[in-house]
Amino acid sequence: MKKRILAGMRAVARPHLGNYLGAGKGMVQLQERAEYETFYMVADLHTLTTPYDKDYLAGLTKDVVMDYLAMGLDPEKSVLFVQSHVPQHTELAYLLSTVTTVAKMSHLPTYKEKIKEYPQHSTMALLNYPVLMAADILIYKAEKVPVGVDQEPHLEIAREIARRMNADYGTDFPEPKMFGTKGAYVPSLLGEGKMSKSVGGSYIALTDDLQMISAKLAKAPTDAGGPGEVPITGPVANLFKFLELFLPNRLEYYGEAYRQGKLRYAELKEELARAIYGEIRPIQERREQFKSKSEMVDEIIHEGARKAKEAAGKTLQEVKEKMGLLV
Ligand code: ADP
Ligand code: TRP
Repeated sequence: MKKRILAGMRAVARPHLGNYLGAGKGMVQLQERAEYETFYMVADLHTLTTPYDKDYLAGLTKDVVMDYLAMGLDPEKSVLFVQSHVPQHTELAYLLSTVTTVAKMSHLPTYKEKIKEYPQHSTMALLNYPVLMAADILIYKAEKVPVGVDQEPHLEIAREIARRMNADYGTDFPEPKMFGTKGAYVPSLLGEGKMSKSVGGSYIALTDDLQMISAKLAKAPTDAGGPGEVPITGPVANLFKFLELFLPNRLEYYGEAYRQGKLRYAELKEELARAIYGEIRPIQERREQFKSKSEMVDEIIHEGARKAKEAAGKTLQEVKEKMGLLV
């Protein structure tokens, strides 16, 4: 049997450059390898764990599927689906929650950050977020998960749950590992933290044109441009990280310029803007084509749900039996 891959993005906003480099690119790479069977979903149920607008959720979910297609995911090669269309995920999440302690979930840094951000939304669904994510992965017995580094604590929980289930009930869940790309951590444009859609000004949207990218980069903080060693943390280090990702052959040139105190940020930023735009323009062009193919996209989603349900149903049945339920 082929090894399985599972990944997903929430439907909180259209994916940005960090999502593409950290997760999307890895998703595409794995889809192209014959030894893997790839399952990619839009995690719409996870979207409900923080405040959201119900009038936009369905449209946004479909937009993210179209963004997946534009990034290069191919329904002939991958199963593309919407999480809530496969109810087996939530059913397995319930079963997995029986081997997960409240203490463990409430101490997770990701949980703590979210309740700090949304003090009024400390819900059961948010506490259960990692358990549902573990179910998403384990229900396909996925071995690799293409996500950014910020998701590693969640993967650790999925591994712990897999071990516990295997030990207590004799299931055969593999311990899922992160599949990282070289863009597994894309820094914020603001010089601190990661590029994130929840921080305005921190990200480049996949829909940005060259002018917009230049304008955003122009606002990225800098320093005097040397002389000295290139900083390893902070805003300038982040700009060098972008060079490494988009213009690796210019790293030496700009590093030397910095050491000599001659770095001109305007030149660096302009060159970077063009390189970034060059990378996302093909995605924008493909995205444009799907706009007029709404019915085709519906069909892809429908077919994806059918295939995902078939695979998920098998695992669920197995787990129920092993847990001693009357089946
Ligand atoms: P955001 O943090 O912008 O809300 P999500 O949490 O929806 O993004 O993340 C979707 C996917 O994109 C996850 O796999 C996540 O690890 C990845 N990702 C998000 N931001 C970055 C980033 N700055 N660098 C690399 N990967 C990222
Ligand atoms: N938690 C992930 C994020 O914020 C989204 C997600 C939900 C996911 N279920 C998943 C990612 C399963 C990988 C595998 O981006």
